[in-house]
Amino acid sequence: MSAPQKGEKIYYMRGTMSPEARIIAVGGGKGGVGKSFFSSGLGIFLANLGYNTLLVDLDLGAANLHTCLGEEPGENSISDFLSGRVSSLAELARPTRYRNLRLIGGSNDPLDMANINDLHKSQIMSSLFHLKADFIILDLSAGTHSTTLDFFLMASHQILTVTPDPSSIENAYRFIKSAFFRKIKRYEFQLNLTNLIGDLMANKSQHGIRSPADLLYFVSKKDSKNGELLAHLMSTMNIQIVLNQVRTTSEIALGPSIESVCRKYFGINAQFLGHLDYDNAVWQSLRKKRHLLLEYPHSRVYAQLMGIARTLAGPRKEKKAIS
Ligand SMILES: Nc1ncnc2c1ncn2[C@@H]1O[C@H](COP(=O)(O)OP(=O)(O)O)[C@@H](O)[C@H]1O
Ligand SMILES: [Mg+2]
Repeated sequence: MSAPQKGEKIYYMRGTMSPEARIIAVGGGKGGVGKSFFSSGLGIFLANLGYNTLLVDLDLGAANLHTCLGEEPGENSISDFLSGRVSSLAELARPTRYRNLRLIGGSNDPLDMANINDLHKSQIMSSLFHLKADFIILDLSAGTHSTTLDFFLMASHQILTVTPDPSSIENAYRFIKSAFFRKIKRYEFQLNLTNLIGDLMANKSQHGIRSPADLLYFVSKKDSKNGELLAHLMSTMNIQIVLNQVRTTSEIALGPSIESVCRKYFGINAQFLGHLDYDNAVWQSLRKKRHLLLEYPHSRVYAQLMGIARTLAGPRKEKKAIS
């Protein structure tokens, strides 16, 4: 991962976003952990709660969010925006069978993360910030590509989907670590901390740095003004954990334990949002091209997803009309 070069664009566009729009990024280091299933379910519930909700398939190259919703692949995709055929992502949003829920699909995209350049990325981000909705949900790719990390970091809600499988947990920690250092890289140049951080990282054991949280502590100790500013910027990271495909009650304890590692080891905010049971009904309904929430409304997963959606929505505010 390279440091931003002098003059490289750094994204400070949150101020241009409609104050009502909340961006939820659904990431996770591994494929198959349920990012798309969770994103689609969350979208349906938020829409059902009356929120104008927009799902965006950013799993470029392996887009399948439309299938999770039981929708046909659309005619348009994010490639149409990047090629200039349409001038904003809003033009790609299509209605779904669910009231209040629109989808920007990626189904026809020949793109994958590896061929999204910095200009493409900033165009997508800028257009996302201008989309009118109450909630925008980004279904991200697996892995720790810098573009995926930047989409994750731009969100006001950074959801990490993980399963109790040891390889999923390992990948989840790798993802958090990559996001942490990606965020540091975005600010260290502006804060004139590149040399200090480089020196601390090169001599970790000499300085007694055993964790990313220690790194922030030592940066602040050596350069209190910029170090504290960096610590403040890092404190805006807030990982919200969803534990999916839970088979036994004892596995639920993994949620609070990942939350605690985020706080203690990484020194970042974290919240365990809840868990979803492993349920055969999930893939059975997918095969029928009907979302579980339509097909099995009495399942536990239905109630669990509803609980998470309500937590994320928070207390209901008076809504602005969407123009
Ligand atoms: N809670 C669950 N119970 C059972 N199967 C699940 C559950 N969540 C996801 N799946 C199944 O796991 C597979 C991968 O899910 P998906 O959402 O596509 O993962 P990702 O987007 O992370 O790659 C799908 O076949 C889906 O039906
Ligand atoms: Mg997916």
